[in-house]
Order: sequence, then structure tokens, then C-alpha cells
Amino acid sequence: MKYRRLNTIIGQNILYYPSLPSTMDVAKRLAEKGVGEGTVIVAAEQTAGRGRLGRRWLSPLGSSLSVSIVLRPDLDKLSQLNMAASLATAQSIENATGLKSAIKWPNDVLLNGKKVSGMLIENIIEGGKVKTTIVGIGINLTLDPSAFPEIATTATSLSIESGKKISPWEMLHPLLREFESIYQDLYCGKSVYKRWLTRVETLGKLVRVKSNYMIEEGYAESINTDGNLVLKRSNGSLVTMVAGEVTLHV
Ligand code: BTN
Repeated sequence: MKYRRLNTIIGQNILYYPSLPSTMDVAKRLAEKGVGEGTVIVAAEQTAGRGRLGRRWLSPLGSSLSVSIVLRPDLDKLSQLNMAASLATAQSIENATGLKSAIKWPNDVLLNGKKVSGMLIENIIEGGKVKTTIVGIGINLTLDPSAFPEIATTATSLSIESGKKISPWEMLHPLLREFESIYQDLYCGKSVYKRWLTRVETLGKLVRVKSNYMIEEGYAESINTDGNLVLKRSNGSLVTMVAGEVTLHV
């Protein structure tokens, strides 16, 4: 089999902004203007950070790493790109803190069962080809979730869990290196899926999955190679979830 050699260097071009509504929008605008693949947008503060499923993402000044990466992957790599981003984030958080991280399907990174990082992936697809993919990654560095009722019980930060004050730059460079290496693996035909799956803590549990369209409950039986979660409902039927927010169902 022949694999495409990538010339991408993620982070060769890093654009820093003291404050932005969201790094996603700037990344998208620059991508439309033809900025190189691997360009990274970083903001010290986001005033309108976006999360998955229409939620907001809190990133007040100096509390977080907020980054968006411009990529142009092949269409057949998209599902594993999501895995590559969460795997790279989980791994670099583990290297920075020395703590074991886990992934909650589809791509939340957890430390001690609480969310420390989230990912938002936005694609522009035209004529069956990926024109641009923006991978947005947010990591709570010193954020104090107790100041925000909506995340007070579910979120945490690297400083809370590790006692270490890690700066955005200390976290950014290892994250980009890790992501670059896993992105290259993807194009060399190495399975990102298997490595990602070993970190996913969602399987084998009774869960509730809420998407924009429906709520499903069941036993988290498996995750296929496209990253879709297969639930077994109480009546024995199976349902495949493409996206959603997982909570434990007791
Ligand atoms: C989620 O878990 O719901 C996804 C969170 C994604 C947050 C990041 S921070 C950098 C980028 N800019 C945004 O507005 N969102 C993503």
C-alpha cells in the first residue's frame, strides 16, 4: 500500500492573540485566505469560546490554553483525526502533570474523572473533499471551575489536579509536537484507533448519551473504527451514536 507523505509541520506558523472571541473563527477566516496547513492560532483569552453541541467554552484571561489548528486532511482521515487530537492532548497532559489521563467519548480528556480538556472540530467540505478542518483544543490550566456553576462539579484544571502551574507555552509546544507525530502516523497507515481506544474510559458502563437530536440510554458496548459509540438498549437493540454528551446512567 502507498501512503501519502505529509509536508505538514503543525505549529511552524503560530499566531498569537491577546484576546479573541474564539480562535475557531480566526482560524477559519485565515484558512479561507489560504494560510498554510498546520497554522496555529492561540489566544490568551476567549470572550466567546465555543464548545461542542452549542455549549460555551470558558477561557478567561490566562486560565487556559486555547488553540485552533488549520488542517487539510483527506476525507477518509477525518474520523481518526478526532482520535489523533484527543490522544495527543491526553498524552501531553500526562507528560506535563505525571498524572494518568483518560478520554471520555468522543474526545473529552479527564483527570481523576473530571474534564480538563475539550475538542471542537469544524470541517468545510466541498465537492466530496475536505477544504479545511479546524481542530480547536481547550485545556484548563489554572481555571477555577468553582467560579462557574455550569462546570463547577464536572470540570477541573491541571493546577488543581497536579499542584503545578503550567503556562500556556509550556503546554502548547509539547501538545503540537505530539499531535504532529500522531498526525504523521495517521498518514503512514499506523492505527491511531487502537491507541486511542486504550484510553477511552466510557466502554462497559451504563450511560446516557444526549445529542442535538435525541437522548439514548444503554450499555456502552463498543466503539467502531469510525469512532461511533454502539449502545445496547435495555430491550437488547443496538443504536450507534455519532456524537453526543455522555453521562453515567445509574
Ligand atoms: C467541548 O468540549 O465542548 C469542546 C471545547 C473546545 C474548546 C476550544 S478552545 C479553542 C477553540 N476555540 C473555541 O472557541 N473552542 C475551541
